[in-house]
Amino acid sequence: MTRLVLAAPGNAAFASALTAQLGATALAAEFRRFPDEESYVRVDGDCDGADVLLVATLHQPDPQFLTLVYAAEALRARGARHVTLVAPYLAYMRQDTMFREGEAVTAPIFARLVSQAFDRLITVDPHLHRIENLEDVYEIPAVNVHAAPALAEWIAARVDAPLLVGPDSESKQWVSAVAQEIDAPYVALEKVRRGDRNVEVSVPHLDQHRGCTPVIIDDIISTARTMIETVRHLTRLGTKPPICVGVHGIFVGDAHAALLAAGAGQIATTNSIPHFSNAIDLAPLVARALTQ
Ligand code: R5P
Repeated sequence: MTRLVLAAPGNAAFASALTAQLGATALAAEFRRFPDEESYVRVDGDCDGADVLLVATLHQPDPQFLTLVYAAEALRARGARHVTLVAPYLAYMRQDTMFREGEAVTAPIFARLVSQAFDRLITVDPHLHRIENLEDVYEIPAVNVHAAPALAEWIAARVDAPLLVGPDSESKQWVSAVAQEIDAPYVALEKVRRGDRNVEVSVPHLDQHRGCTPVIIDDIISTARTMIETVRHLTRLGTKPPICVGVHGIFVGDAHAALLAAGAGQIATTNSIPHFSNAIDLAPLVARALTQ
């Protein structure tokens, strides 16, 4: 089946890396806003019987999502047989339960909306916590690509004697996978979140790891409060400046600067969300998952 790749606005770099990895063909489209902010989408080219990959990372899902639904429909009207949403970062995975009565549990609601619009989803390390598998909430085939091999390669090539640190219990899944790839020690801490920008992280025990370089690994860096608290604990214990590695660097407001100011020695993210900290390319792993 012919494979075509369409980049949603802001996704050109990842889409072109993926197109090159797959030896696929790029598809053009016009995306714009009417003066009243409604979306205009026009797909430029036939998609007869093609498997179309719509590349749209979802760190700002609310202003984007309707446009993507329109694009999927326009692709089908052009003859696409399958429309796959390639969302290196998948939004709305963190509100996976009702913490307070009356809240919308957005993870399954968003999953239902995506499942209605697309034939398949491919993403990288979604925030799986109380939801064990994507397909517990997604009604379409949903592929979870693990970034661990790419993180491991980056760390192994740059850090001597790394000690991997996961700032909370959820991060253990990512930290342990990277640790296994490069045969490095790891510790996972405990976190209590008291508000959007207020977190407490337990103090690590480092006695056996003196001399190591701490590498804090988390799936998401949003306000960076989780990383900042962890960096503070580590530097108070006298470690080398910690290296902060995030799969998905959202960096709300001044989060990046605040993390550096807190003592991070270096901050590296994957290219799941475009940002100047991007240092780790996920396109090869996503391409591999698409061809298996
Ligand atoms: C949640 O548990 C995630 O794994 C991250 O730790 C969290 O999203 C990071 O958020 P922030 O950067 O706002 O502390």
